[in-house]
Amino acid sequence: MKRATEFDDLADPTFSAAVIGWQKAHGRHALPWQNTRDAYRIWLSEIMLQQTQVSAVLGYYARFLERFPTLADLASAPSEDVMALWSGLGYYTRARNLHACARRVMAEYDGVFPSDPALLADLPGIGRSTAAAITAFANGTRAAILDGNVKRVFARTFGIDQFPGLKPVEDALWRRADALLPAEGIESYTQGLMDLGATLCTRSSPDCGRCPLQQRCVAYATGRTAELPVRKPKKTVPEKQAALMVVLHGGQVLLEQRPDSGIWGGLMSLPERDGHQARELDAAAIEDMVLAAGAFGDVVETEALLPLVHVFTHYKLHIAPYRIGLAERAELDARYVWWDMAKIEQAPLPAPVKKLLAQLATPSLFK
Ligand code: ADE
Ligand code: SF4
Repeated sequence: MKRATEFDDLADPTFSAAVIGWQKAHGRHALPWQNTRDAYRIWLSEIMLQQTQVSAVLGYYARFLERFPTLADLASAPSEDVMALWSGLGYYTRARNLHACARRVMAEYDGVFPSDPALLADLPGIGRSTAAAITAFANGTRAAILDGNVKRVFARTFGIDQFPGLKPVEDALWRRADALLPAEGIESYTQGLMDLGATLCTRSSPDCGRCPLQQRCVAYATGRTAELPVRKPKKTVPEKQAALMVVLHGGQVLLEQRPDSGIWGGLMSLPERDGHQARELDAAAIEDMVLAAGAFGDVVETEALLPLVHVFTHYKLHIAPYRIGLAERAELDARYVWWDMAKIEQAPLPAPVKKLLAQLATPSLFK
């Protein structure tokens, strides 16, 4: 039947054997949430250890158990007490979910955590990986974990060269995680994967020399431990083009008030032509500029200045500045102000525009 053999191509009992053997000899065995089958203590530790290192958790874990020795104590506590005790550990949604979860296990399961990972994963704050960890440690249930550390170990060992945050890549990792589960020794295997990721196969300096997976590790064999796992692809920022007109007359430059909202809102700036191609400094572009500048007066001189690039949070702006000399000024509405170039430092201008004008105001080697 298809179903029973579905993962056969990914299965490899030597993988779990290597992890279990290493965990027994070199893994961690004396953490305060180990050597117990108490689901309450295990659950509490797994929630605290989400996105948080062991060293940061130890003190909080001890204080929580002292204040709330049982699930019933936690469930019946005022939420302010729970939040206060969590204070400093970060990711406070975890604390709210912790409390909600305690109350639900009291109400729906008589205070006993279910062992079925699917039922656990339905409770607040417990995802698929945390559910598997809890039931593996508390009940010896064969269920796969796949937290950030395990994703890193898998991405390196199996040479997975796509970002693990992509849904299809994550799905494939879960299939692998399921296929690689050992027939026996789920506790040592689960702890071993966690210990490997936290102590050996670390993000920035994996200690491959001591690693039980080294002989099978694709990243090690191909010298790609620094490239794997593949990092989240950066969003490509949109690029926009604008021409800025430096309209000069009698030692003054023409500034225009920008609308209150939007980029550079409320500041003054140079008159602008959107969509102008900074990289196409052809005759047509200059002619267009002269035509537009005609609204400000009698244009006698035009010069394309060096283009500049300004990076905003949401886009990159390519600016093509033009120096435009007038012989005579036209009457302009209240949005426009003539500003002394000698006092340009005092103008309420965006930084890149001020920099551009300061360069023009200062006689330089290039002029
Ligand atoms: N990180 C998540 N769960 C852990 C555990 N049980 N031991 C050590 N680190 C962990
Ligand atoms: Fe990680 Fe190195 Fe081990 Fe590969 S050999 S799993 S990169 S520690």
